[in-house]
Amino acid sequence: MNAVDAAPRQSASPAPVTCPEAPAEGTRIGAVVYFSSASGNTARFIAGCALPAEGIAVYRIPLRPAEGTLEVREPYVIVVPTYGGGDATKALPPQVRRFLNDRANRRFLRGVIASGNTNFGDAYCAAGDIIARRCHVPFLYGFELTGTPEDRRAVRVGLRDFFRSAPTESKRQENTHKETTGRETT
Ligand SMILES: Cc1cc2nc3c(=O)[nH]c(=O)nc-3n(C[C@H](O)[C@H](O)[C@H](O)COP(=O)(O)O)c2cc1C
Repeated sequence: MNAVDAAPRQSASPAPVTCPEAPAEGTRIGAVVYFSSASGNTARFIAGCALPAEGIAVYRIPLRPAEGTLEVREPYVIVVPTYGGGDATKALPPQVRRFLNDRANRRFLRGVIASGNTNFGDAYCAAGDIIARRCHVPFLYGFELTGTPEDRRAVRVGLRDFFRSAPTESKRQENTHKETTGRETT
């Protein structure tokens, strides 16, 4: 046996994913982070919104641990389907919970869009309520399954306006400073 054979095998964890699935075309105004399970409804909805053409980069939260974890370091709105089978306490897919448990990812979260199925009654789109409440961001929109053409138009135009009117990162920090100290940044 040579030295290489004798070395203990390392179970290498995959490198973090830091690149968008679809980069913004032209001037970048913001980003969307979405999760979609194997059924792919949310993925179809996102593809139909044509967000890159509006200058919005699209990141996907990996489905399987072997694909690595996503790290996002720019302002984004998260688009998430509801799971839990009517139990609102289990509405967040674990992949989404893991992504948002990373403080650095959470720092750039600006809003949430949720999907679901109206068959689940009060738990319809409950993932959006949970994220909005826990992360103190606005619940911007809800849609069912793959959404309608009107949903896709509303999200495309709504996100474009949302990011265009959003304060820049330096302006945000200045406002936070003012809110917490009552003083202007000098
Ligand atoms: C096991 C399971 C549980 C679900 N639970 C809920 C729920 O509690 N509330 C809701 O609004 N939709 C619920 N849904 C509907 C999903 O949110 C909906 O099918 C969504 O489009 C799935 O998106 P995806 O295909 O991108 O993963 C559930 C779907 C499944 C398969």
